[in-house]
Amino acid sequence: MKLWGGRFTGEQNELMKQFNDSFKFDRRLYAVDIQGSQAYASALHAVGLLSAQELASLRSGLHIIKDEFDTGKFERNFGDEDIHTAVERRLTELIGDAAGKLHTGRSRNDQVALDMRLYCMNEISKTVSLLETLQHSLIAQAEANLSFMMPGFTHLQPAQPILFSHWMMSFFWMFERDRARLNDALKRTAVSPLGAGALAGSPFGIDREKIAAELGMAAIFMNSMDAVSDRDFVAEFLFTLSMIAVHISHLAEDIVLFSNPAFKYLQIGEAFSTGSSLMPQKRNPDAMELARGKTGRVISSLFNVLIVLKGLPSTYNKDLQEDKQALFDSVDTTEMVLSIIAGVINSIEVFPENMLAQLTEEMLATDIADYLVEHGVPFREAHQKVGEVIKFAEEKDISLSEIPVSALNHISSKFDADVHKIFDFMRAISKKDSVGGTAPQAVKKQIEMAKEKLGM
Ligand code: ARG
Repeated sequence: MKLWGGRFTGEQNELMKQFNDSFKFDRRLYAVDIQGSQAYASALHAVGLLSAQELASLRSGLHIIKDEFDTGKFERNFGDEDIHTAVERRLTELIGDAAGKLHTGRSRNDQVALDMRLYCMNEISKTVSLLETLQHSLIAQAEANLSFMMPGFTHLQPAQPILFSHWMMSFFWMFERDRARLNDALKRTAVSPLGAGALAGSPFGIDREKIAAELGMAAIFMNSMDAVSDRDFVAEFLFTLSMIAVHISHLAEDIVLFSNPAFKYLQIGEAFSTGSSLMPQKRNPDAMELARGKTGRVISSLFNVLIVLKGLPSTYNKDLQEDKQALFDSVDTTEMVLSIIAGVINSIEVFPENMLAQLTEEMLATDIADYLVEHGVPFREAHQKVGEVIKFAEEKDISLSEIPVSALNHISSKFDADVHKIFDFMRAISKKDSVGGTAPQAVKKQIEMAKEKLGM
């Protein structure tokens, strides 16, 4: 028996049944679907549309169904086209006619909008806590390796010396913004559409505010057509997941690079590495490659949903059913990736001597220019002079610190004997003591602020 069978006489085409079937993927909404129905049943009772007895039997029926799903005992019937019809069909089997009252003034249009919102609320919270776990791992590694020096890169070319902990913490802040984005998205997601009906609203005077409060939603929709139409909250969540995936891909790429034997600044734990079936020496950073690779599907899901939404006519259209697999896939993928990456970060072993070995005096060229600036030379001119110093060292095939002061004085009279103090990497790092800089004191302060963000 179909929910909407009244006006039909013939059978539905078999292929059409499969085409229309969303139960195979939207069954994962069962808990939120039932949660929404429990709240709606109370609201119907409050306006006298359900007797106390009917409410009690609806409540217990819904409870049984939830239990059946939880324990894997729910049996689908091939007439069930989606989770909503499946629950209602089963409810009718369990409690009889009272089940038919649950849909008073409610449509699957406001129901599915509610389910998706409740689902997103849960998953947003889960993602927030996974991000926090990862952020804790980043802080722990930054603290454990606070003062190790390494080359910092721009254009992937050696640029200036930095602290390893500074590099690690840079990701903390990316994930911190992602976390803020999620918490912000939550406000727009926790808005109840119940009472919108199919599109026009409810004639039964149900207390929409009360339902929302019962469902932990902070607000209700101000327009019933908007309530059933939009999936902007899905797109917003997907954007944030995409941004997380992009940040992770960036972290993954750095780790792939830094664990390459040519760098070997660090090594990820064996638990997260794999070998090669052919080359016995290999220790591959598969975890990071997969994390980087999965960014593609997360971003595609965002596009998938935006494209589904584009150009739809007002209110509910079945196209909207296509929001689910994209969302579920991105949620599953991101949750898995976040858990893996936190594990990888915890497993990292750092090799400070290798990082140190790759620091070169050329990375202090800017510090030489800064020295001239401190001696009154305008920066542009200082930059030019240091260029000449580097050319001189290259021509003579000596290192920068080997150039005698007398030779430096041919380039600028401002060079003094104390110029050699520049060739000290920790000095260069320590001088970058502006807020957010790489100086050990600044990084310590940064870590303190980060801990505060996590309420540590
Ligand atoms: N399975 C549908 C979906 O996911 C539920 C809403 C169906 N509404 C309707 N009027 N046919 O969007």
